[in-house]
Amino acid sequence: MAFLTNEKPKTTLNVQNDKKKMKASRLKISARSDIPMFRALDILREVNERAAKGVDIRRMGAGQPSVGAPPEALEYAISMIRKDPRQGYTEAVGMPTLCERIAAYYKDYYGANVNPRNVVVTTGSSGGFILAFLAAFDAGDRVAIFTPTYPAYRNILNALNIEAVEIETSPQTNYQPTAELLEQSGKNFDGLIVNSPSNPTGTMLPPGELEKIARWCDKNGVRLISDEAYHGITYDHKAETAAKYSQTAIVLNTFSKYFAMTGWRLGWLALPEDLTDRVKKLAENLFVSPPTISQHLAWKIFDHLGDLNAYVETYRENRAILLRELPKAGFTSISNADGAFYVYADVHHLTNDSEDFCRRMLNEARVSTTPGLDFDVARGHGSIRICYADKTEDILEACERLKIWRNQN
Ligand SMILES: Cc1ncc(COP(=O)(O)O)c(C=O)c1O
Repeated sequence: MAFLTNEKPKTTLNVQNDKKKMKASRLKISARSDIPMFRALDILREVNERAAKGVDIRRMGAGQPSVGAPPEALEYAISMIRKDPRQGYTEAVGMPTLCERIAAYYKDYYGANVNPRNVVVTTGSSGGFILAFLAAFDAGDRVAIFTPTYPAYRNILNALNIEAVEIETSPQTNYQPTAELLEQSGKNFDGLIVNSPSNPTGTMLPPGELEKIARWCDKNGVRLISDEAYHGITYDHKAETAAKYSQTAIVLNTFSKYFAMTGWRLGWLALPEDLTDRVKKLAENLFVSPPTISQHLAWKIFDHLGDLNAYVETYRENRAILLRELPKAGFTSISNADGAFYVYADVHHLTNDSEDFCRRMLNEARVSTTPGLDFDVARGHGSIRICYADKTEDILEACERLKIWRNQN
């Protein structure tokens, strides 16, 4: 009898639970969610775990400023919490006062006219991509991206069943698209994404090229998406905004990089007239509103651009150190560091497995970097991305470690 064994008798409830478990194991999982992991974030997790255990690592992996928003702006955010601890929802497209400040910034910084009505504040620019792609494209549409590329473009597009058409760039075009390259591409796509300065290469479109690309897009019925996430972090000349050259382009930007508000998760879209209402309705339904306290800080941060420009001067100093020291560590072929806080190094002569190379560098030299495979599935086994957003003394120490490591290998 079952009672004399250790096994409990099957009750109706047990039987039902067993059936549920069997059914659960056969439940459908969407094919579109089967996207690759983001290696840079995986490495960041590993680095954080080791750092928490006391391992002394120099960070050139994840792409984020090592400093926070200017202290006075933070004080303002704290005062806003005290004033209104509730911090309820805002308008789905963001506080009108913030939209106005963003629009004014386009006039002041670029001399471009942006109507505050066409500005939508988003949960990081990552949230902006979802809104922009949903508003502009249908499942089955095709969007061109240029490799090496920020990997989330491909992965978000694919998750929305939009095809990412990869077009290779090379040092010959400074790892950027050109209107000429587009002309040769077959023109078989509905949208294209430019990113200048670029993650992962740090390269920029030369002055005038964005206007040519915008004209090419209009002529060929292609929706231009300009990811301007690294604007403000440039060293020789300012980046140009697509908002100046196109009535149809979608412009994305973020408070995560130049504005040093990474974890506050705020970005924005400057939209063309034909997409604004669609994006508003999507924003209401998908996100309700972007984070309120972050919007207060973002509004105030425009009073502290001097501090943010000082951060850029630190990146400039770090960049000079890398350009001087990296070749001494055997990294002789690196991208032009025009902007952002990255260089992309060709390491073909050192490895054909950039993932293993970065892992060994982390274990042996205690320096984190990101394998090129994140950015370029076809060619990234021979490249790595090096981020120089950390403190100058840490960048110097990282270079010393790399030189010693390379000499030992
Ligand atoms: C080119 C580029 N675009 C967009 C993003 C997304 O940034 P966020 O969601 O923090 O605005 C990043 C982040 O690294 C990036 O490098």
